[in-house]
Amino acid sequence: MKYFLDSAILEEIRYAYENWAIDGVTTNPRHIMNSGKPFLTVLDEMASEFRGVENFPISAEINPHLDNAKEMVEEGKKIAALSSNFVIKIPCTEPGLIAAKEFEQEGIPTNVTLVFSPSQALQPARIGAKFVSPFVGWKENSGDDTTQYIKDIVDIYKTYGYETEIIVAALRNGKQIVDAAKAGANIVTCGFDVYKNSFYHAFTDYGLGVFRNAWDNTAKEVPVIK
Ligand code: E4P
Repeated sequence: MKYFLDSAILEEIRYAYENWAIDGVTTNPRHIMNSGKPFLTVLDEMASEFRGVENFPISAEINPHLDNAKEMVEEGKKIAALSSNFVIKIPCTEPGLIAAKEFEQEGIPTNVTLVFSPSQALQPARIGAKFVSPFVGWKENSGDDTTQYIKDIVDIYKTYGYETEIIVAALRNGKQIVDAAKAGANIVTCGFDVYKNSFYHAFTDYGLGVFRNAWDNTAKEVPVIK
């Protein structure tokens, strides 16, 4: 399963790429706002950072105020022109799906986002979107079960041979990453701290303490005098 970093902060993206071998990046308007930088500055930074790096998709979301396909396509094309790494992230609305169809027909990859049900996940696959992003954390905050919903999307895609890759998004902890892996998702996208926490376990630290203590108390080699 691939790991994408959900972020617009260049320093953490660079760190995660160099040290954790992340496979791509996703952003959204909230991440860009949190970076404290303007939208185009963030995109320019990412474009230069990964110029020449192949197979490293960076999903950049179009202006969420746009609500007709024509305007979405116009804006998305400007983003796509900045770098071949950019994937146009587009909301799962009817105009968004019409725009995604047009992008894909023109060879511009899309990530259909803000997906919350298997029925929403069907149309992006039918029109050949490169990625679909079903959200987990927001649904779980509302008390919804998400394990079956991700598995249903995986199963439907397998049944029909859809090639759209499933990015399980808005994950908050290691258990949700594992649930996505068990369901057979292609990719997860998580914030920096979610990954960092998923690498740790209290017993690992406890075990290190035990082994360090044992190491320090192991009989020392006695030099042999010849
Ligand atoms: C995914 O592509 C989204 O950017 C992301 O997961 C949205 O959710 P969050 O910002 O609440 O994590």
